[in-house]
Amino acid sequence: MIKNMEISYIGTESKQEFNANIPIWHGANFELLDLIFPIKFNPEKIKKNRTNLLRYSSFLPIENEENFVSFSEGFTPLIPIKFTNGISAQIKLDFLFPTGSYKDRGSMVLMSKIKSLGIKNITQDSSGNAGASVAAYATKAKINCEVFLPLETPSSKVTQIMAYNAIVKKVNGNRKETAAIAFEAAKANYYASHSFNPFFFQGTKTFAYEVMEQLNWKTPDAIILPAGNGTLLLGCYIGFMEMLQGAAISKIPKLIAVQSENCAPLKYLHADKNFDLQSFTALDTLAEGIAIPNPIRAKQMLEAVQYSKGEIITVSEMEIIKAWKEMASLGYLIEPTSAATIAGLLKYGVGSNQNENLVSLFSGTGLKSMDKIQKMI
Ligand SMILES: Cc1ncc(COP(=O)(O)O)c(C=O)c1O
Repeated sequence: MIKNMEISYIGTESKQEFNANIPIWHGANFELLDLIFPIKFNPEKIKKNRTNLLRYSSFLPIENEENFVSFSEGFTPLIPIKFTNGISAQIKLDFLFPTGSYKDRGSMVLMSKIKSLGIKNITQDSSGNAGASVAAYATKAKINCEVFLPLETPSSKVTQIMAYNAIVKKVNGNRKETAAIAFEAAKANYYASHSFNPFFFQGTKTFAYEVMEQLNWKTPDAIILPAGNGTLLLGCYIGFMEMLQGAAISKIPKLIAVQSENCAPLKYLHADKNFDLQSFTALDTLAEGIAIPNPIRAKQMLEAVQYSKGEIITVSEMEIIKAWKEMASLGYLIEPTSAATIAGLLKYGVGSNQNENLVSLFSGTGLKSMDKIQKMI
């Protein structure tokens, strides 16, 4: 466990530091914050008797055990799958998390921090899965939660959030407009944002730890990840960098960021670093979870991809449907956003050296997207 006094926020641009025991979620002028603390990743400090995220509590920025808000989640299976186009990969079954998506990794650490700060009211905004996840952990911790959602959010995700006692606020607009309204509301509240709040990424980093343990510390060549707000991509990057700095591994894998062709801001930013993200508007996509036209951590996402020598892959709606159908035919009911990542994996695999060891994931369950799935079949 890392001591609270040793944890600081740091402004991503100004590099100004703040004590992480104060309830803030931004620096001056709403600057994004990261976290810094002295961490020396050491596989011997993994609590092997625990088969959940608490296995990694020595590397998580939460001081007291009793502050953890946990459903005993995580350490999801990593299974080999051979696809019809001949590609083989190891797939993490992150759709098995309690709320049906990998977002629970981030919510577990973020809500544990919020509980330890004594905060009682939080604001969130989401395309559905992060909202459901934060709402579940909030109700477990007896914290009031309001979630802003775009009008088009699948009804099952809205119902799930309401079931966890959160107040749902539907916004007559897209994901970008929803985030802007939530951002204003959060100024009078605490913003439990999965993209703004750096504690969320401290949870998603456990994906990287688990992959390395499950592969017996042999770094895969590439990890194919969704890239909406980059919560998993950046979490993975943090986790791999910690393991590298702790000499538990000697190289990090290529991080391959998958976006929908209809909403691929990272691809444009990669081609032109002066690309104006703010005025970028996207087309509709089946992959609602990665339909983020202007991710606030886009610059960091690009840095992670470039540092790892990875790449950005875009997939068409037809490729998403094809990947979804193939997974369903194997018995895996994933949501369309999750199928976009698999479509990216298939595309990357065909273009790459066929001997590469590839890792990817099922990021969300299809049970929450039955309306869309009904249309697809
Ligand atoms: C199922 C699923 N997969 C992937 C993503 C992509 O998220 P991010 O890039 O923020 O990690 C989301 C986001 O909502 C999601 O719900």
